[in-house]
Order: sequence, then structure tokens, then C-alpha cells
Amino acid sequence: MPLFTVDADKCRHDGICAAVCPLDLIEPADKDHLPRPVKDAEKECLNCGHCMAACPFGALELERMPLSECRPIAKEAALTPEQVAQFLQSRRSCRAYKDQPVPRSTLERLVRIASYAPSGHNTQPTSWLVVEDTREVRRLAEITVDFLRIMIKDLPELAHLVHAQQIVDGWEAGQDPVFRGAPHVIVAHGQKDARTAPMGCVIAQTYLELAAFGLGLGACWAGYFNAATLNHPPMQEALGLPEGHQNFGALMIGWPQYAYYRIPLRNEPRIVWR
Ligand SMILES: Cc1cc2nc3c(=O)[nH]c(=O)nc-3n(C[C@H](O)[C@H](O)[C@H](O)COP(=O)(O)O)c2cc1C
Repeated sequence: MPLFTVDADKCRHDGICAAVCPLDLIEPADKDHLPRPVKDAEKECLNCGHCMAACPFGALELERMPLSECRPIAKEAALTPEQVAQFLQSRRSCRAYKDQPVPRSTLERLVRIASYAPSGHNTQPTSWLVVEDTREVRRLAEITVDFLRIMIKDLPELAHLVHAQQIVDGWEAGQDPVFRGAPHVIVAHGQKDARTAPMGCVIAQTYLELAAFGLGLGACWAGYFNAATLNHPPMQEALGLPEGHQNFGALMIGWPQYAYYRIPLRNEPRIVWR
């Protein structure tokens, strides 16, 4: 099977497909030929779909990616620069959630959007664990608190630095300072030793956080829980990730209780220009 086919009636011989291929796997059209894959291109192709995405005329179709399933980009839905800035700067870490579950279809939509995050060589290394059952979320919070109790005993300086005692006290007073009462937790995990997994998972989870905000949901990185998944064997057992996998970043998710009305200040960016 060829890597792709080109519709001769649509192709304008503009060379765009060849120009955007990250691995130069496309020989551009000339007077005798339509664009064609170089030798062994199918073995090297990253399946990033750039060649298809960049063709203004829909002339090229990858064998593994039916053109009919690749939605056109709606130009009228593009954000203005001001909207992009406001969207990114008005996202906040949500720490108060309504006692109301998020439908599975919405959680799945988030994960599907996050799957479009960039990853090294388009390896898409992220797998997802969606802890949908709120009772299970509470159990994971409890195990996190056990981990913090051990930290307070064994590593008091670190415990002090991360306010571990405050989290334990809150839990013992009947609050949920680990997941802030969020009904769900989403874990981005991948192969421990996969070259692209740590960054790929973090970027995908960042996409998911932004997508959540875009859908009116609240989210927050679950730092205490993340630490427990890396350092506390009972948590690793409770999570039950596939063999060789590690959590690279988890978020709590739910409907936010409060809205925000102002954008707080951040430090001036530290930049070196060369
Ligand atoms: C890796 C990471 C871990 C975090 N862990 C927690 C956490 O366990 N609990 C919490 O309330 N906030 C947590 N946060 C949220 C930060 O405190 C928050 O991003 C920061 O205060 C800036 O606020 P903003 O996200 O609303 O701009 C975490 C953020 C990151 C990036």
C-alpha cells in the first residue's frame, strides 16, 4: 500500500505537502509526477498528518488517515489574539467544587481534546486513568494523607515546606484538602522509561486542564497525590497502572463553585535575549 494517494484533479503542484513534511518523505510534484512518497517513507512516517492538513485543496489522502474523517478547520471559529490571551490568563486552579458529577461524555471529550497535544516524534505516549467514582477519589485522598503522615515523621523539613501537616489536619477535620472535594481525578500515565513520556504526558495534561476551563469545568493539578503515586507503594497498588507505567501528572476535575472576575498579577518574565 502506498503511504498516500493524490487526486490528480485537485493537486495544484504547489509543493506544500512536501515542504511541511517533518522528515522530508515527500517528493514534490514535477511535470511528470504527482507528489509521491520517497523510498521506505511508510516506515519512517510519523503519522502527523501535516501533508493532508496543509493541502488547501484536499488533494492528498494518507492511507492510514481517511480524509473524510479529518474535519476542516472552521476559520470563523478562530480566536482573536485578545481572546487567546484572556483565555490563557484567566484560567485558574480550582479549589472549590460543586457536589455534582461531570458526565462521562464530558470527561471523555476532555481526553479526546487533550490527545491533540504535541509529543516527541508524534509518539502520543499518554494513557489516561479517569477516576470517575467519587468514592474511589476519596480513597485515593486517604492514601495520600497516609503518605503525608509518613513524610511528616521521616522527612520533617520537606513536610514543613509542603504544608503536609495542614493537609493532614484538614483531612482529620473532615475536609478534602488533597482533591478539594473534586468528584473526579484524571491521571496521565505512560511508560516509565519511554523517552517522550514525561514531557508528552505533562503537555497532554496541560491541554486537558485548558480544555476543562474552556468547557466551564474547574481543574487543578493534584501535587500531593502526584507525590504519593511516585513514592508510596500502597498508592501504586491502589492505582494499578499497567506494568512499567508511571503517573506523570494528575488533575482534579469538577464543576467550579465560584467564578473569577479579575486576572491576578504574575512575576515579570525572566528573559535573556541573545
Ligand atoms: C505540578 C503542580 C502541582 C500542584 N499541586 C497542587 C495541589 O496539590 N493542590 C492545590 O491546591 N494546588 C496545586 N497546584 C496549583 C498551584 O498552586 C497553582 O497553579 C498556582 O498557585 C498558580 O495559580 P493558578 O493556577 O490559578 O494560576 C499545583 C500546580 C502544579 C503546576
